[in-house]
Amino acid sequence: MPYTIKVNGKMQTVDVEADTPLLWVLRDMLGVTGPKYGCGVANCGACTCLLDGHTAILTCSFPVAKAAGHEVTSIEGLANGDVLHPVQEAWIEEDVAQCGYCQPGQIMTAVALLAKKPHPTDDDIDAIPNVCRCATYFRIRAAIKNAAARLG
Ligand code: FES
Ligand code: FES
Repeated sequence: MPYTIKVNGKMQTVDVEADTPLLWVLRDMLGVTGPKYGCGVANCGACTCLLDGHTAILTCSFPVAKAAGHEVTSIEGLANGDVLHPVQEAWIEEDVAQCGYCQPGQIMTAVALLAKKPHPTDDDIDAIPNVCRCATYFRIRAAIKNAAARLG
């Protein structure tokens, strides 16, 4: 059945089974490879994107049918043209990434957290479930605080 989703500002229609994970659609059908496959079972956060600009979703476990009629933003859609999102700027300034695999998901999760809580506490940041095998957690914390300051 066809499903229409706005992905990074562009309307896309895909003809797939209703329970096809959104991550498969993004990566394999639309070529949106920022969101990564990590665990496939909603545990690691590598596949995180935003739904309707502010809610973090784990696309490996999010059926495409639930995304129909909504807007999905991946890391590719976060910058405004050549202007990086403040969270991306903060990530660069704090030199967060190591191997980088988890980082698109970390950044999208941080954007969602800051949308909900503009000045998150250490506990809020520690509650982020995203996994980083390179253990960049301290730099992620610094970058989220850096981004919070940038966003005012
Ligand atoms: S790949 Fe989606 S949460 Fe791990
Ligand atoms: S930077 Fe390597 S897994 Fe996070």
